[in-house]
Amino acid sequence: MWPKIFTILVVLQSSFLLHGLAQTGPPRPNPTITRIRPRPSLIPPGIKLMPRRPNNDPGPLANRARILFITQELKRNITYDPLGYTKTWVGDNYCLFKGFFCDVVPDLNITGLSSIDFSGARFGGPFLNFYRFIRNLPDIAIFHANSNNFTGVVNRNINKLRFLYELDLSNNKFLGGFPGYVLGANKLAFLDFRFNTYNGSVPYRLFNIDTDVLFINNNGFAGRIPQATFGNTPALYITLAGNKFTGPIPPTIGRAWRTLREVLFLRNRLSGCLPFEIGYLVKATVFDANSNILTGPIPQSLGCLFSLEILNLANNQFYGAIPESLCRLPDVYNITLSNNYFTQIGPQCRKLVTAQRLHVQGNCLPGFRLQKTAAQCAAFFSKPRSCPRANTFNYVPCTLPSAADKVVVTSVEDMVPPSPRSYAALERPHPHH
Ligand SMILES: *[C@@H]1O[C@H](CO)[C@@H](O)[C@H](O)[C@H]1NC(C)=O
Ligand SMILES: *[C@@H]1O[C@H](CO)[C@@H](O)[C@H](O)[C@H]1NC(C)=O
Ligand SMILES: *[C@@H]1O[C@H](CO)[C@@H](O)[C@H](O)[C@H]1NC(C)=O
Ligand SMILES: *[C@@H]1O[C@H](CO)[C@@H](O)[C@H](O)[C@H]1NC(C)=O
Ligand SMILES: *[C@@H]1O[C@H](CO)[C@@H](O)[C@H](O)[C@H]1NC(C)=O
Repeated sequence: MWPKIFTILVVLQSSFLLHGLAQTGPPRPNPTITRIRPRPSLIPPGIKLMPRRPNNDPGPLANRARILFITQELKRNITYDPLGYTKTWVGDNYCLFKGFFCDVVPDLNITGLSSIDFSGARFGGPFLNFYRFIRNLPDIAIFHANSNNFTGVVNRNINKLRFLYELDLSNNKFLGGFPGYVLGANKLAFLDFRFNTYNGSVPYRLFNIDTDVLFINNNGFAGRIPQATFGNTPALYITLAGNKFTGPIPPTIGRAWRTLREVLFLRNRLSGCLPFEIGYLVKATVFDANSNILTGPIPQSLGCLFSLEILNLANNQFYGAIPESLCRLPDVYNITLSNNYFTQIGPQCRKLVTAQRLHVQGNCLPGFRLQKTAAQCAAFFSKPRSCPRANTFNYVPCTLPSAADKVVVTSVEDMVPPSPRSYAALERPHPHH
């Protein structure tokens, strides 16, 4: 039964590969938003500011009364403070408060509160109002407060925080819809909302903001990934993992080819076929869409991901041939295609399997260990399967190395493991002690 099915499939696919001549496809698309790079500096060039002063002698302090007032209010609301931050919040020099950091405010040229670090402080209390607190820190640039019980609604006017460029609110108690007003903070380069219980859809504007890091994994976000704007994001690292996103990975992802390095779609409910435009992402080192309900073949364009180190498409419903070009990518360290319905694998990919750099268990590959049963494969292929834009699966938007070139296949133990940055975001921040 099953050798027969596979013979037919294999014949069909090889003839498809032979006759479906690779086309380059359309040229790389660009974001519909133009951005200035490098980012303009906060301090106009040529301006001389006063030298930074010591914390115990900071000189006049920017917004002193307002900051002292809101800090005392927050202090009253904090009923649990195991690491003893609030007992240091006394006197009128906020530069000496635990978790508060001062620097020269560029446009005021005096000392001000530039940064808050409450990460891992584990503050508790019935209502720790993040928005009310931060709105009263007018000169703040960095606000890190992971692993606390901050909550509440974010209102308009956060854009008045003219220097705010890093916001880490991961692992707090935020809930309800995406806090759209945060997107008004137009200097944000780092946005981390992971491990809250936000829900509903994400605003399309999220992918228009000018940020390097966008971590929104492990919430309850649902709905589609906004197709019109997704690829406008200039973020280097994006984690959408562990939400309830549905629908396809937007083809506009290809617009992010100048910037996108790591993108984590894993553990959502994404469906549909992969857009060939993924193959434009020449800077991408990590692409992980495991544990969704994605289907279709792997587009031939993925052989153009010349920076790729880690690819994980496990636990989906992909089928067809594993593109040989994928297994010729120079920096590939670990490709995981387990638990899909792949039926064909070529000589180069077989070498990667032997080198333990390609994982294919749980598929429909004849002659391989730990595959699905013939009945499971037959049941899957008994339904007609196809993808929209079928011709695009043959697009190869780059020049591939010649198949005749010998590629030496190094075993995984002999390679330097890559050090991706985004996977760490999938772990709940642990309060440090
Ligand atoms: C900032 O203050 C310092 C010393 O107080 C002064 O030398 C400098 O010119 C000031 N810079 C501006 C831009 O006002
Ligand atoms: C902070 O949140 C945790 C988890 O929801 C909860 O168990 C704890 O009681 C809260 N602490 C305070 C003091 O509110
Ligand atoms: C403190 O708690 C009060 C009462 O719940 C609330 O109205 C206020 O917004 C809170 N302020 C801060 C800074 O947490
Ligand atoms: C989102 O969460 C809020 C607060 O928990 C809840 O009231 C609301 O019904 C939820 N909305 C959706 C779309 O699930
Ligand atoms: C490759 O990736 C898979 C899936 O994340 C993981 O289970 C495996 O340990 C990885 N192998 C290596 C050598 O990193």
